[in-house]
Amino acid sequence: MNTREILGIAPVIPVLVIENPDTAVALGKALVSGGLKVLEITLRTPAAFDAIDAIKNSVDGAIVGAGTVNTPEQLELCAKHGVDFMVSPGFHLPLVRAAADKNIPYLPGIATASEALAAINEGVTTLKFFPAEQNGGVSMLKALGGPYGDLFFCPTGGINAGNYLNYLALGNVLCVGGSWVAPQELIEMQDWQAIQALAKSVAITH
Ligand code: 3PG
Repeated sequence: MNTREILGIAPVIPVLVIENPDTAVALGKALVSGGLKVLEITLRTPAAFDAIDAIKNSVDGAIVGAGTVNTPEQLELCAKHGVDFMVSPGFHLPLVRAAADKNIPYLPGIATASEALAAINEGVTTLKFFPAEQNGGVSMLKALGGPYGDLFFCPTGGINAGNYLNYLALGNVLCVGGSWVAPQELIEMQDWQAIQALAKSVAITH
């Protein structure tokens, strides 16, 4: 699958910050059984790669990506762990090229027209828009759609139950990402039923 195909699988990609790798499999199962199969595990905790390995090995049907891929060293580790895709908050050509060299689906982030232009000139047309709400949200994406009609986005940052449908209604939005479908409090409480219910409530909107 390429990046665009992965982003077409589910309307919402849970952005996960996993502190305790022992919770990863139950969390992954709750989300996947709720209909959200594409998971982004951010490299913001020491447990991230253990969580990625655990979900890849034990959660059937999960498409397991790494998020917050900020350095070539992290990208190398992603390749070693066989992640299904990678996400970065920003746009950095060496990372874009390294991901292409390794043939790993990659979703770099942009927030401005200039970064969009850099992406187009590198042949990258599927992008994260981050942080979405803080950078003009829906109206910014509509505006980018004028000059950059060939670009497609996964907005993340500040997206929640109250606004995600406004993003999904846009023609240049493939899916959205966010942490609201797997809130830290519910993960800490290990309330997998509540997380599954949250996943179900958004998975049907596609
Ligand atoms: C992120 O990379 O932190 C994501 O965009 C999640 O943002 P959110 O916590 O505002 O959903």
